[in-house]
Amino acid sequence: MGELKLAVLASGRGSNFEALVQAAESGRLNARFHLLIISNPNAGAQEIARAHGIPWLCLQRGDFEDRNAFVAAMKEALVQSGANTLALAGYMKKLPPEIIDAYAGSIFNIHPGLLPAFGGQGMFGGHVHQAVLDAGCKVSGVTVHLVDNQYDHGAIVAQRCVPVLPGDDARALAARVLKEEHRLFAEVLQAVAEGRLRSHQSIFWLEAKQ
Ligand code: GRF
Repeated sequence: MGELKLAVLASGRGSNFEALVQAAESGRLNARFHLLIISNPNAGAQEIARAHGIPWLCLQRGDFEDRNAFVAAMKEALVQSGANTLALAGYMKKLPPEIIDAYAGSIFNIHPGLLPAFGGQGMFGGHVHQAVLDAGCKVSGVTVHLVDNQYDHGAIVAQRCVPVLPGDDARALAARVLKEEHRLFAEVLQAVAEGRLRSHQSIFWLEAKQ
């Protein structure tokens, strides 16, 4: 596939976005960042885009007359950017179905838990880690999956475990998981860039490097 033409969507501090940018700058990820879309003006991801000269745009539903105008603006921004792959890096909004259809199979989300457990609406950030701890799990981890019309539901592409350690609170677990998020997202996208994303029926996997 060659160089990925990435658009990243984020709502928060943007550490996953930053990890992707660093992976690209250090040659571990063959990608160009065509656009960052943030869903609120305070998203820290914006500062990262500015610092690295990446075009960015804040798109909020409330700024548009109606839903159609919002979706049209998002679609237009993505098309104009020339991106062919979307990475949701802490994007807290549901992507409109029109966007999912337009980029079907090329939209990846990172989730700080081992799906299909601990996912779905309301399962984000500390909620995921607290639920893992409350369930007494001995491992948690990271999932990268394709995006469909339901929260945290599309086909799983890659997962990695991290241990849950005695004495962990949600903060400690989140920090351990986040480190692995930063590695796995770049690895998955690099595999996509190298054409190593495979599927059979509804099962997806990454072929090992030759
Ligand atoms: C990450 O934990 C990611 O898995 C989830 O949202 C969080 C975003 O963190 N989807 P950051 O903004 O990338 O630091």
